[in-house]
Amino acid sequence: MITNQETGTRVDEVAAGIYRICTPLDVIAGGFTVNSYLIADDEPLLFHTGYRKLFPITLEAVRKVMPVEKVRWIGGSHFEGDEFGALNDFLAAAPEATPFGTEIGVLTSLNDFASRPARGLRDGDEFSIGSRRMKWLYTPHVPHGWDCGILFDLSTKTLLCGDLFTQPGANMPPVTESEVLTASEGMRGMMDYYAHATSTSAILERLASLRPSMLACQHGSAYRGDSAALLRELASTIERGNGKLSAQPRAVTA
Ligand SMILES: [Fe+2]
Ligand SMILES: [Fe+2]
Repeated sequence: MITNQETGTRVDEVAAGIYRICTPLDVIAGGFTVNSYLIADDEPLLFHTGYRKLFPITLEAVRKVMPVEKVRWIGGSHFEGDEFGALNDFLAAAPEATPFGTEIGVLTSLNDFASRPARGLRDGDEFSIGSRRMKWLYTPHVPHGWDCGILFDLSTKTLLCGDLFTQPGANMPPVTESEVLTASEGMRGMMDYYAHATSTSAILERLASLRPSMLACQHGSAYRGDSAALLRELASTIERGNGKLSAQPRAVTA
């Protein structure tokens, strides 16, 4: 469903009760997308607020799914504008919502930035939002950020994998069953958005062992299929050093 004709923002239910809110942007040649995921339950959860400047657009999309006042949890993978930029606007619109992120992210950024105290999650922490349980996995520097973490919906086995498998392009289908590694490796070749951490393969293997049914990417399509295989392929591609990492970022000014 298109929720804003001007921006092309759309909302799609990509798994049971999980709504992908997608806004296309022209920040790189060929376009780019920023996704938030809204999970419907007794205590609805918004994962990634989108940029502060996009708040009215993202809010409009949230309201197509549920009254924003119902939202109880607002979090993100790591502290950057596309993950948390609109946090305080959403906290004002959803007075009972609690911000959350990884424990170190709360210490370094969230509790300074957020208008209300944030909940810091430790690796392996689980919490209920009603009919489903969410699990937090601390994934430092994968793909980037000391504070990086990933949220796993244990009921649908959806991995809210943040910037992993970032795919360029403005007109991506909400869900794809075609592998997204080639496209995300193309993106990594264009902009090396990975920290070169020694723990990357071990962390990707840990995510693969969850056997996710879906990779809910923050940029690009959500992938439905053998996510474990794709995570392992990503790990071996990185280990082989096959990414074409020499190109400089190709930002364009609109
Ligand atoms: Fe990021
Ligand atoms: Fe991101």
